[in-house]
Amino acid sequence: MRADSPLVLGIETSCDETGVGIVRGGALLSDVVSSSVEAHARFGGVVPEVASRAHLEAMVPTVSRALDQAGVRLRDVDAIAVTAGPGLTSALLVGVADAKAYALAVDKPLYGVNHLAAHVAVDCLEHGPLPEPCIALLVSGGHSSLLLVESVTDDITALGATIDDAAGEAFDKVARLLGMPFPGGPHIDRVARDGDAGAVSFPRGLTGPRDAPYDFSFSGLKTAVARWVETRRRAGQDVPVADVAASFQEAVADVLTAKAVRACRTAGVDTLLIGGGVAANSRLRALADQRCAAVGVRLRVPRASLCTDNGAMAAALGSLLVADDGRQVLIGLLLLAGAEQEESVTATYLGYSPRG
Ligand code: KG4
Ligand code: ZN
Repeated sequence: MRADSPLVLGIETSCDETGVGIVRGGALLSDVVSSSVEAHARFGGVVPEVASRAHLEAMVPTVSRALDQAGVRLRDVDAIAVTAGPGLTSALLVGVADAKAYALAVDKPLYGVNHLAAHVAVDCLEHGPLPEPCIALLVSGGHSSLLLVESVTDDITALGATIDDAAGEAFDKVARLLGMPFPGGPHIDRVARDGDAGAVSFPRGLTGPRDAPYDFSFSGLKTAVARWVETRRRAGQDVPVADVAASFQEAVADVLTAKAVRACRTAGVDTLLIGGGVAANSRLRALADQRCAAVGVRLRVPRASLCTDNGAMAAALGSLLVADDGRQVLIGLLLLAGAEQEESVTATYLGYSPRG
């Protein structure tokens, strides 16, 4: 790390984590996350209004802790990066408004960054510069996307995404059905270790020959699990929770890894990056390892704390954008000028081309 590399403060509030990270060059100096996940537990999913209120309360203390941990002062910061979308609108607004205020206070440029691109960029903090092009599979409670990353700062193509539930959402809903607390993904992962993944053959959504090759669908799978469990219960039989969890998890991991590896082969790309909270899933990782090794694709998965939403990811992408000759300062000006929220959020989807 060069001592004169720009110091970038990143703010992330797209869902239920208030994340603030500080990066200099390719080095992570601090990464502080305040999560409101417990406030959502009784609803079985993230409630936007509850999340945005929690961001309001957590923002200033989280920024202070991140500055303390990095051993820097706010006035040392050279640029501020903030997640501008996609995400929960009311939650994003808190982050963008706060980031504008910090940028105005220190008179430094503000970069609105794309959340999915930031999930990709964060891996550079752990594994060094990203081989480009690469394929990224981003799987969390809010999104499931396959991206072709030609350049993380300005050329990302969405190959496909979920057409209904996100992968993490499916984990959470199936976990709830099996009586596990929210968020259910880690519980399913743990319980599935004692189960037989071949016990029940659950459907693999959108894998037919005429289906979109890179889109995902998990709601049919979730319904199939619900029906299977219901039928057992009605018949007065015990539900083999570990077997159901393992079989469900296998169906998700199978589809995700098959489509991701196929995307690598079709695009002639030799690096696959997996990010988002579901990347912590042990079966997904094992199957991805195995399938990537079989076709000579290198697999990169950031450590768990960098896979889930955090401020370091916004700072990491911001840092790459600053190094990329400040192309997106314009966006900072747009946001600072108080442009229409929708207009500025759309404008910040730079380097991300939705299909069609
Ligand atoms: O990225 P993240 O922290 O937040 C967003 O949703 O944006 O992802 C949270 C999601 C939840 O749905 C959670 O159940 C899932 O990631 N998750 C897992 C595991 N750990 C977290 N899903 C499966 N297996 C896990 N080990
Ligand atoms: Zn995310």
